[in-house]
Amino acid sequence: MKTIVVAQQKGGVGKTTLALNIALYFARNGANVAIADADAQGSLTASADLLEGLRLVSVQEVLNNRAEADLVVIDTSPRNDADLAKVLALADFVLIPVKPGYLDVLALKDTQAILQQAGIKKAGIILNMVQHRNAVTREVQELLQGFSIPLMTTQIFQRVAYTRSTMTNGVFGSDDVKAQAEIENLADEILDNL
Ligand SMILES: Nc1ncnc2c1ncn2[C@@H]1O[C@H](COP(=O)(O)OP(=O)(O)O)[C@@H](O)[C@H]1O
Ligand SMILES: [Mg+2]
Repeated sequence: MKTIVVAQQKGGVGKTTLALNIALYFARNGANVAIADADAQGSLTASADLLEGLRLVSVQEVLNNRAEADLVVIDTSPRNDADLAKVLALADFVLIPVKPGYLDVLALKDTQAILQQAGIKKAGIILNMVQHRNAVTREVQELLQGFSIPLMTTQIFQRVAYTRSTMTNGVFGSDDVKAQAEIENLADEILDNL
């Protein structure tokens, strides 16, 4: 079983959205995928009934190795709580969504410190909610170079298909082929790291 943890010490950056979309992508490609929600706010849990092809398992089941899946995708809270430490200890890859803004990049410092403490070896920063007119600025790229976590090649743009993706069983249930290609590219990059 491989475990992908989606983490970032900031809310509203797309952790839950990317967790469910990559999980749905892997499930569409035949993997036995489970999702787990380590965020007490429970956004992923609340969405799970709408997501076909994904089984919601508890964090406890994952920790006890009872999830019975090829792949588990775990959504986490922006808080550095006990569950975060426990699931990071199991992570094969940590996906870190970051919005391309100055304050968003600064929030990465806390996340990077937590990952270092957890001894995480494989992680990637995914730029999310990139805007066309305001594509990732040189300032943000320079700031990102100050972090030891590699930046993924894929960028996820701001698209309505993502906002609606809980209702459409992911972007693959929409007709937005650009969003679909972004999730596919992101998933492939993650697979290369597993
Ligand atoms: N790439 C994107 N384009 C448009 N809306 C997005 C995108 N990523 C996330 N969102 C929206 O932004 C909001 C916050 O995303 P969410 O996944 O809940 O963040 P987090 O789990 O980090 O708090 C949600 O309303 C979600 O639908
Ligand atoms: Mg969330």
